[in-house]
Amino acid sequence: MDFNKIKDLARDDMAAVDRTIRERLQSDVVLINQLATYIVSSGGKRLRPLLTLIASRALGYEHGDKHVLLAAVIEFIHTATLLHDDVVDGSELRRGQTTANTIWGNEASVLVGDFLYSRAFEMMVETNDMRVMEILASTTNNIARGEVLQLLNCHDPDTDETRYFDVIRSKTARLFEAASQLSAVITKQNGATEQAMATYGMHLGIAFQLIDDTLDYGASNPELGKNVGDDLAEGKPTLPLIHALREGTDSQRSALRAAIKQGGLANLDAVLSAIESTGSIAYTARRAEEQARLAQQALTAIPDSPYKQALHDLAHFSVHRTH
Ligand code: IPE
Ligand code: IPE
Ligand code: MG
Ligand code: MG
Repeated sequence: MDFNKIKDLARDDMAAVDRTIRERLQSDVVLINQLATYIVSSGGKRLRPLLTLIASRALGYEHGDKHVLLAAVIEFIHTATLLHDDVVDGSELRRGQTTANTIWGNEASVLVGDFLYSRAFEMMVETNDMRVMEILASTTNNIARGEVLQLLNCHDPDTDETRYFDVIRSKTARLFEAASQLSAVITKQNGATEQAMATYGMHLGIAFQLIDDTLDYGASNPELGKNVGDDLAEGKPTLPLIHALREGTDSQRSALRAAIKQGGLANLDAVLSAIESTGSIAYTARRAEEQARLAQQALTAIPDSPYKQALHDLAHFSVHRTH
């Protein structure tokens, strides 16, 4: 199944999620409506809510709309992190549009991000389910942990794979984990199945971020909707850089260390050629492939269905995507 086929499988549920998102964005403050509507209307893949919807159906969820509410909560949390992330990364393009921080400024982006986070918390409380709240509260806290940890790695050329994986597990994979695990909670699965769904989401999220980090060194591509080179500009040591540093020649190593320390794009050509000659993009993609396989293995715990197949294929999409 390709990505569009997978989305088709959840078309009605996703339409309900979009309605919920629009309703719950509303505020009496014009700036909140403007800025939040701007980023939400620019689309995005809606991968995380899709994950919640498909996983819930794969586990037999039929009556009720908790899956829709939780999918919207997950997308709100994701959107809040994007608003904050673009401020921290100084990014100018998101989802094919000028970033909110570029238009309305950093202050507005941070504050509307806070609005979305806290709206997500209001919504999750409506489930009246302590386990749901536990998972989402610790997930949100963990994302913030990952972003702060990443800040500490910026401009530090001694950042190694262990520290890198720690960051991406927190900042990205944890939300995928929650998006998947919640499906088991609302369908009241046993502990083993809940764990399997959490494991699936976690590996999927790691694979997803690994590929995001390769795309940042790829050709600029309108479908991506973001500027490439943002990571290097921020002196962010992602896996392609970490691998090139480890495998490169002495002179490549000193060029890469300088590029990470300085940030900016002045050293882009030297960095790209070091990444190329050390096979660092292919290495990163192989690590992502490994994670996608682990995600797929976790699915052996759940019964066969077209939804399970879609989850399997989502792992494939996360690794082979171009946007
Ligand atoms: C971007 O996520 C942030 C990362 C974790 C890499 P997506 O690539 O899912 O962003 P949208 O929602 O589709 O714009
Ligand atoms: C993902 O990292 C950030 C979040 C989890 C919010 P990136 O900084 O690589 O994400 P993009 O590339 O800006 O989407
Ligand atoms: Mg960013
Ligand atoms: Mg990125």
